[in-house]
Amino acid sequence: MSGNITFTMIKPGAVKNEHIGHILIMINNAGFRIVAMKYVKLRTAQAEVFYSIHKDKPFYRDLIKFIVSGPVVAAILEKENAVKDLRKLIGTTDPTKAEEGTIRKLFAKSIEHNAVHGSDSDENAIRECNFFFSYNERFSKDGSCMSA
Ligand code: CDP
Ligand code: MG
Repeated sequence: MSGNITFTMIKPGAVKNEHIGHILIMINNAGFRIVAMKYVKLRTAQAEVFYSIHKDKPFYRDLIKFIVSGPVVAAILEKENAVKDLRKLIGTTDPTKAEEGTIRKLFAKSIEHNAVHGSDSDENAIRECNFFFSYNERFSKDGSCMSA
């Protein structure tokens, strides 16, 4: 299913500001199907693994602190060209540069607190989906479990 799957996470700032519903509507209206979803608070050690790709970046420590500061909504999304289309819906990392109508333009407070995560490649999408979800937590369109 590579190419049709991506991973998203509504970050603590957007959760705290009650934007979960609006963001999920935008995701659904853009044609994504929700394959898996959970509302969880990461522990620091888990966040460090999830964002290990950024461990040498200057913003890494602050990013970890932020992502564990409250619950997140994590989801696997399905659509043709899922990775590319979700990135387009989310907008660029810095919300001051994000395109009008994108999730980050509407809901991000800053480059650090930028409302949502979206996978940047098929390879990272698979890694991120596997980080959060087992196969019996994923469902196909007819409601059957992906591990069945
Ligand atoms: O999230 P995205 O893929 O657009 O950006 P990234 O370069 O993969 O960075 C991951 C996350 O680190 C961003 O979403 C921001 O929350 C944070 N970040 C930051 O705090 N300061 C930066 N200069 C760049 C990214
Ligand atoms: Mg990224």
